[in-house]
Amino acid sequence: MNRLSNVSTSISLLIISFFLTISCSKKENEIQTANINFNKNWQFTKGEISESIQPNFDDSKWETINVPHDWSIKGPFSKENPSFSRGGWLPTGKCTYRKTFTVPANEKENKVFVYFDGAYRNSIVYINGQKVGYRPLGYIGFEYDLTEHINFDKENVLTVTLDNSEQPGSRWYTGTGIYRDVTLKIRNKTYIPNWSLYVTTPKISKESATINAAFNIKTEFDKASKIIAKTIVLKDDSEIASKENTVEISATKIENLNVSIDIPNPKLWAPETPELYTVKVQLFNNGELIGEESTRTGIRELGYSKDTGFSINGVQTKLKGVCLHHAGGPIGAAIYKRTIQRQLEILREMGCNAVRTSHNPFSTEFLETCDEMGFLVMNEVFDEWEIVKNPTTVQEGKKIRIPVKYYADKFKEWADTDLTDFVLRDRNHPSVVMWSIGNEIDQMKTDEGIPIANRLIDIIHKLDDRPVTNGLIGYGWDAWPSEGAAQTSDIRGYNYIKENGLDREDKIAPNSMGVVTECASAQSFYPRSIYLYGKEKEAWWNKLGYTSTEAYEWVEKRELIGYRGVQAWKDIKNRDDIMGQFIWTGWDYLGEVIPFGWPARSSSFAPIDLCGFPKDGYYFYQSQWSNKPMVHIFPHWNLEGMEGKEVTVFAYTNGDEVELFQDGKSLGKQKNNLNDVEYQEWKVIYKPGSLKAVSYKNGKEIATKQVNTAGKAAKIELFVRRTNLKADGEDLSYVECTILDKDGNVVPKADNLINFEVIGEANLIAVGNGDNMNLDSFQASNRKAFNGKALAVIQTTENAGNIEFKASAKGLETATISLKSKR
Ligand code: GAL
Repeated sequence: MNRLSNVSTSISLLIISFFLTISCSKKENEIQTANINFNKNWQFTKGEISESIQPNFDDSKWETINVPHDWSIKGPFSKENPSFSRGGWLPTGKCTYRKTFTVPANEKENKVFVYFDGAYRNSIVYINGQKVGYRPLGYIGFEYDLTEHINFDKENVLTVTLDNSEQPGSRWYTGTGIYRDVTLKIRNKTYIPNWSLYVTTPKISKESATINAAFNIKTEFDKASKIIAKTIVLKDDSEIASKENTVEISATKIENLNVSIDIPNPKLWAPETPELYTVKVQLFNNGELIGEESTRTGIRELGYSKDTGFSINGVQTKLKGVCLHHAGGPIGAAIYKRTIQRQLEILREMGCNAVRTSHNPFSTEFLETCDEMGFLVMNEVFDEWEIVKNPTTVQEGKKIRIPVKYYADKFKEWADTDLTDFVLRDRNHPSVVMWSIGNEIDQMKTDEGIPIANRLIDIIHKLDDRPVTNGLIGYGWDAWPSEGAAQTSDIRGYNYIKENGLDREDKIAPNSMGVVTECASAQSFYPRSIYLYGKEKEAWWNKLGYTSTEAYEWVEKRELIGYRGVQAWKDIKNRDDIMGQFIWTGWDYLGEVIPFGWPARSSSFAPIDLCGFPKDGYYFYQSQWSNKPMVHIFPHWNLEGMEGKEVTVFAYTNGDEVELFQDGKSLGKQKNNLNDVEYQEWKVIYKPGSLKAVSYKNGKEIATKQVNTAGKAAKIELFVRRTNLKADGEDLSYVECTILDKDGNVVPKADNLINFEVIGEANLIAVGNGDNMNLDSFQASNRKAFNGKALAVIQTTENAGNIEFKASAKGLETATISLKSKR
């Protein structure tokens, strides 16, 4: 029996002692089975109990949970919660997790590490009562060596305490908990340390590409030994090239290897063809496999030229980007791969090709999904440096300022470590096209910020060669960034820049290109499908009960057409020196409810609501960013009370002409100049009936959209993107419900209460409807539709089988949908 089969035997014992918590996707006889999924069966309690760090503490009364876990999302929403409107009025605080596990005696010669991809926040980790580490930033991944405290063949207890009690603790909803994956890693004493494997592709042509793998080998054996490192490149699980290197190692020195491998006829990674390769390094001692590390990579050439624009593999590419926060709407901050995939699928259908991780490190899963789907990422690390942010927030509709207790007091001590770990963790992802060191850092308005920016940029430059930007603020109004600011970044980054800002920056730093790190999106602040005229508008605002008109003015200034977003795209669409833009935001998110206050608990900036339902602005971006023929008109055509009155109807299209018909009669054609950024509008006298838009290109009809006045709600339509799910206890199905009349028209103001039932191998885990002012719990078995729509999120169990989902509402036809889950 060679060493490899020894390892797999001991790993299978481990499987038993971990209560079958090991991912079933692992293959027998492969040493990476030593990376053990540690997500299942944790004991959890809110609060802090100092004795609970002791291994013999009795936690049997605590709740048993699986991670990812975010308990803040369970609510309730309350005006008394100190997270305030910034945190979506949700509860926060301290909490403790414990996990009991056994490592078999035959692992004694090995090392044991635990890896957390993120725990929000101020985590302290103990093993068997011994503290192994503290990490204040809740978004950062970290690994601890547990070996010296492990009792092999006996029970061990890992305790994690979190403290998210200082509030408001963020400018947006963060979640609280171990909200990302946990992995237990068993390694030989000779090993490749965490994140040391760094893969680059320095030479690329159609005929051949060079993949370079740099990595460290460390040993904790006293005796020197000869190790063979085999570097293998795989495509779709098949080995396509490899190289062996022999190295003498000893405990006194960490060896650094640099291996170059040529790949003939490489398949290049690009947004439309996200081809991935795997690079695996195996270590052999006396012919026996003792450990391995692997990472994925994409072969692609990135070009950043002020004259010819940003390019991938020589193809000029504009960043049609969105800023996102990390959470997943109704399911909170503990998100699953499927949450990310769905977010990106809906964005891709909007024409989006890029995401800014505003304003903190996201999960590893997020970047993996971007790699797989061909998204381009501006990977951002900080929202705050040394000075506390004091953002404008809204109380009863009135603007006030409340400082947030986030990271400023930790920055001096932790920033360099956090930044280093962030880059080390993320630098192998082909989706990452640039780094960002900050968002709207006030210190960049004076020269005080420059040495800090330079220090952070230096850290990144030492670890990676992709360019660095910084989302600066202040263009076009009172406090401009310091003149030196533009020179610090490799790519000048501007938030909310106006034309005078672009001109000024160009003069200051004429040799570098820029990117609009953030701009307004083409979206009115009213929630999805809300069109208010006359008395209805007054009633809507009166219901909010605000004593000041500030919020009203703020919202109304935005206009239904979302003119600011239209203008922001117009400013840069035809400029090669600007890589592209990132709109604020792609999806609505919890918290930061400006310009509203209570009872709003989520933002309303985005063209997509919290549940994934498109608003009108979504179609503006589709008309500008996507080539798929489309036309969209709004408002809906159920404007009761407006009979005989004039209403403006707007259209977005990627055709070069649009014609609007009311009840079959043409109201005229309008041009759409595709070289510019345009929308169309008609003044129409409202009467119930139909509106139809027809879009043409070069005289040919390319798309139509008809909106009818809907009758009474009669039935529910269910929509899912996939019917075959994975029976892994993690996969999700997002079931979108739409209320229709008897003829199949969407009832645009329907608010029927829908009851959900799941039969079979899945559970209902969240509900929602996209109304940013709804304070009902996300964890319920029913939901009122909001403007005709509601959402249910179901999660598979670990058993394969049939799943039946049923949605029913009083007076409406019940709808069902059948899904299947497989192992
Ligand atoms: C920006 C900021 C974002 C968000 C947004 C809201 O200035 O960078 O994080 O707060 O404003 O409008």
